[in-house]
Amino acid sequence: MTELDIESITQIDERVTGTYRPEVWEDRAAYYIRRDPDSSQVAEVDGTVVGFMMGEVRGGEFGMNEPTGWVEFFGVDPSARGRSLGRRLLEALLAHFRERGAQVARTMVQEKDAEIAGFLSAMGFKPAKVVPLERRPL
Ligand SMILES: CC(C)(COP(=O)(O)OP(=O)(O)OC[C@H]1O[C@@H](n2cnc3c(N)ncnc32)[C@H](O)[C@@H]1OP(=O)(O)O)[C@@H](O)C(=O)NCCC(=O)NCCS
Repeated sequence: MTELDIESITQIDERVTGTYRPEVWEDRAAYYIRRDPDSSQVAEVDGTVVGFMMGEVRGGEFGMNEPTGWVEFFGVDPSARGRSLGRRLLEALLAHFRERGAQVARTMVQEKDAEIAGFLSAMGFKPAKVVPLERRPL
């Protein structure tokens, strides 16, 4: 993934969520490219970007000292789904995470996002022994 992919990523997100938010994807892409330029990936079909996945290796969060490959944002254009692009994007990130010394990949999914949960489960992700907590309102 490079800065040149931001427009396509914004369009994919718009098709998935119905919201056009170029600044959000500019900020996110810039963050991951700065942190680790080889980690985040796009999927192309006939030269067109139809999927993306962003993540990076971090360690030490929440008392979990081992280096962790965090999978944080992804989407495949609805017209390109079911062709293993999501799987291949994830495999590319996992290979990079391994190279960077991580032995575990982590992500989070909202309970309402059954589609994403189904994909992650098919990819071998299982509930972790970590409890997400929040305080609302602040
Ligand atoms: C989840 C998503 C990435 C899957 O992309 P995809 O390219 O269609 O997935 P793949 O074809 O690579 O599927 C890989 C495997 O996951 C399975 N899978 C995919 N979606 C699934 C679902 N909703 N439920 C159960 N399994 C699913 C496939 O059956 C396939 O299994 P197999 O390889 O054993 O046959 C795509 O549907 C998507 O982008 N969803 C919206 C994500 C989103 O809302 N992102 C915004 C937040 S950042």
